[in-house]
Amino acid sequence: MTTQITHDEILAAIKKVPLIPTSGTQLLQLANQKDHNLTDIINIIKCDAALTGYILKTVNSAAMSRGKEITSLDRAVSLVGEDMILSIVFSEAAAQLFHADLDGYAANQGDLWRHNLRSAIAAKKIAPYAKLEVNPDTAFTCGLMHDLGKAIISHYLEGTTEEMVAAVDHGDFKDYSVAEHEKIGFNHSEIGFELAKHWGLPEPLPSVIRYHHHPQEGNIELQPLLFVVHLADIVSMMTGSGTGADSMRHSIDPAYSDYIDLSRDDIARIIFEVEIEFNTIMSSLSGEGEPK
Ligand SMILES: [Fe+2]
Ligand SMILES: [Fe+2]
Repeated sequence: MTTQITHDEILAAIKKVPLIPTSGTQLLQLANQKDHNLTDIINIIKCDAALTGYILKTVNSAAMSRGKEITSLDRAVSLVGEDMILSIVFSEAAAQLFHADLDGYAANQGDLWRHNLRSAIAAKKIAPYAKLEVNPDTAFTCGLMHDLGKAIISHYLEGTTEEMVAAVDHGDFKDYSVAEHEKIGFNHSEIGFELAKHWGLPEPLPSVIRYHHHPQEGNIELQPLLFVVHLADIVSMMTGSGTGADSMRHSIDPAYSDYIDLSRDDIARIIFEVEIEFNTIMSSLSGEGEPK
């Protein structure tokens, strides 16, 4: 038996989550700037001793350094590239959330991390196909953070999985996030949006987190990015990185073709490329970067 939760309860739960470091917010802001480069990234990381230490430790894990110790941040960042750096930073900064059990979705530990990472890679690869320009790095960071609300809502959904799955499959609700909202008064996108605001994440992150399942509800100027992340989320689920009960129980908005020009062959190639890059990042992190 579940009950509706209040906005105050959500805010109280969010306040218990550790804040992400300022350097993390700055990196997200930077990724959204069109002409940024690795030097800009290095300059932000350099100001955060803990983050510098964590990146060097992770890059020096056997899989990445191949036995040669890397002591310079510049070398580490240029060796692994921006996607990997952002993956390392946020796997650490939001470890508690990425590592959540997601019992309310009957998911496995680590599923949220794998799903979001795969969505991030897919979003970056889909972005160049948008009919209006979408910054691939913004798409990557939005994919990486889009489902973090699940880590908070999961607790309130415990015990509902069977009933929710049956109701969505029966057509009682349009999709799983609508079912969440009806069941407890909020869905994971709305809670993720509150979390993003609490953390002070820069736009467009809060909006993309809020509307990733129903992109047409977002601002018109954000539609291309919203549809890129919407599609990337579906690709992530299709390729085996879901988060338990809700996997493939989110409908795809066919209006994506108004914003993204993708043929079947393009989708097949993107799925293949996402698989390769996902496996590369996962094996490079090899337990070091993945939340513990
Ligand atoms: Fe979602
Ligand atoms: Fe998702």
